Amino acid sequence: MESNPWQFSAAERDAVYRAIRERRDMRHFSGEPLDPDILKRLLQAAHQAPSVGLMQPWRFIRITDSQLRQRIRGLVEQEREATADALNEREAEFLRLKVEGMDKCAEVLVVALMDQREKHIFGRRTLPEMDLASVSCAIQNLWLAARAEGVGVGWVSLFDPDALGALLQMPEGSKAIAVLCIGPVDAFYDRPMLEQEGWAEAQPLEALMAENCWPQQD
Ligand SMILES: Cc1cc2nc3c(=O)[nH]c(=O)nc-3n(C[C@H](O)[C@H](O)[C@H](O)COP(=O)(O)O)c2cc1C
Repeated sequence: MESNPWQFSAAERDAVYRAIRERRDMRHFSGEPLDPDILKRLLQAAHQAPSVGLMQPWRFIRITDSQLRQRIRGLVEQEREATADALNEREAEFLRLKVEGMDKCAEVLVVALMDQREKHIFGRRTLPEMDLASVSCAIQNLWLAARAEGVGVGWVSLFDPDALGALLQMPEGSKAIAVLCIGPVDAFYDRPMLEQEGWAEAQPLEALMAENCWPQQD
C-alpha cells in the first residue's frame, strides 16, 4: 500500500488510541488543585469540537464559589434520591454507587446548551437534537484531552436542569446537560466503575454491529 502522507506517526496514533481506550468516567479525585494552564487547554480542546452548522451551541460555566458548588451538589443529591426511588428493586444497589466526585474534584464545570437554538436550522430541521450531539462532542474532546493530561473527568447528569438553570441565572431556552467534575486523581479505574461495581456489563462491538439492516437476534 502507498503511504498516506496525512497519517500520524505510529507513536502519535498509539497515543490517540490510548487516550480513547484509557479514558474513564472518574468519581474519585485526589483533592489536589488543577494547573490553570491545563484547564485552559482542556477548554480549548472542547471548543475545537465539531458542531452542526458550526453553531457552537456549548456554553461553559466554571464554578469557583464553594457555596454555589455545595448548592449544585445538593441538587445532585436530590436527583440521586429520586433516581434511587424510581429504580425500585435496584434502589439499595444504586445508592451504594458513587455517582459524582464533587466532594474532592479540583474544578466543577457546568456545560450547557445555548439559548435561541431554534434560529439554527442547518442540520437540525429533522434532527433538532444535533445541538445536543455537538455539545457532547465538545465534552468528549475535553474528556480525552484530560486523559492525555493525566486528569480525571466525571460527567454528572443527575440533576434537574430547570433548578440548575435558575441557580446559574441561565436564560430561557438554554439547558445544562453536564456537571463536569475535573481534577487530579490517584489512579484511573482499569474498567468502567459501573462494571467494577457489578452494576452493568459493557457489550462487545460485534453485538452492536450489523450490515445492511438492523442487527438480527441469533
Ligand atoms: C451522557 C452521560 C451522562 C453520564 N452521567 C453520569 C452520572 O450522572 N453519574 C455517573 O456516575 N456517571 C455518569 N456517566 C458516566 C457513565 O456511567 C460512564 O461513562 C459509563 O459507565 C462507562 O464508563 P467509562 O466512561 O469509564 O468508560 C455519564 C456518561 C455519559 C456519557
